[in-house]
Amino acid sequence: MTYEAARRRGPLAEGDQVQLTDPKGRMHTITLVAGKQFHTHKGILEHDRLIGGPEGVTVTIGATTYLALRPLLSDFVLSMPRGAQVVYPKDSANIVGMADMFPGAHVVEAGVGSGALSMSLLRAVGVDGRLSSYERRADFAEIARRNVETFFGGPHPAWSITVGSLQDELSDTEVDRVVLDMLAPWECLDAVARALRPGGVLCCYVATTTQLSTTVEAMRSHGTFTEPASWETMARGWHVEGLAVRPQHRMVGHTGFLCTTRRLADGVEPPVRRRRPSKGMYGESVAESGEPPSGADEPFRPNLP
Ligand SMILES: C[S@@+](CC[C@H](N)C(=O)[O-])C[C@H]1O[C@@H](n2cnc3c(N)ncnc32)[C@H](O)[C@@H]1O
Repeated sequence: MTYEAARRRGPLAEGDQVQLTDPKGRMHTITLVAGKQFHTHKGILEHDRLIGGPEGVTVTIGATTYLALRPLLSDFVLSMPRGAQVVYPKDSANIVGMADMFPGAHVVEAGVGSGALSMSLLRAVGVDGRLSSYERRADFAEIARRNVETFFGGPHPAWSITVGSLQDELSDTEVDRVVLDMLAPWECLDAVARALRPGGVLCCYVATTTQLSTTVEAMRSHGTFTEPASWETMARGWHVEGLAVRPQHRMVGHTGFLCTTRRLADGVEPPVRRRRPSKGMYGESVAESGEPPSGADEPFRPNLP
């Protein structure tokens, strides 16, 4: 069995986390210890009632029935202790997919915050990969370390965390992927360009349009990256019951913007693509001649999602 699979399968064992959900959807997460009790105002649950049995069972505490399941990574991330704001599971999934994380990859990440994204990245690179994480706040790094160790059941063999600013501390070279989740990713571009191998992917996650604009313009003017691609994702849950099938009224309306770019080989300039303007885009004279006005050259945009 692989590194993580043993912890996620089979009968519930001491040290496993179990999420108890009541009929109203309220959740409690407990770590199983033989002989220990979980107390709620409804009554007491002996951990031994769960240890040795399967997950996906129900247990009653007083008059209330709880569903007992091991938490998924997305459950854990949304309930774990936080220092900084976490990357939401929908965005972590997008980062892993669109920044093309792969087993065995050497990935650099900053900042670490509460370690939510670190866990998705560790799963993606696996035990044969390497995740070098940088966090400037020692107290956040400690929260992240505890969260990662709780989730994986101990230190992850592929993970190292350095306290300090990425731009001062980054010494990794031949890096495959870099993810920046911080206020000012543009301050790190020189360091990232030195660390990334040609073809490597840089992915930035920012909260506001002004950060997105500054990041993208800095990537463009840096001269070592391809034309950036930018996007956001929105996940809207659906209420599905009988004939009432409709979007849920509430959703997380905004989390952040993503942008990716790739490291060019040293000395290479981003290729320029000349686009024929669509009719009327630049006014009548251009529509008639079909020639783009000066300045209509667009850098080659390789991988818009
Ligand atoms: C939004 S939080 C990161 C959340 C994290 N990705 C997660 O999923 O839990 C941003 C973090 O970046 C850190 N930070 C900001 N600039 C940094 C830099 N230049 N180098 C390292 N860490 C930095 C901050 O201290 C903060 O903890």
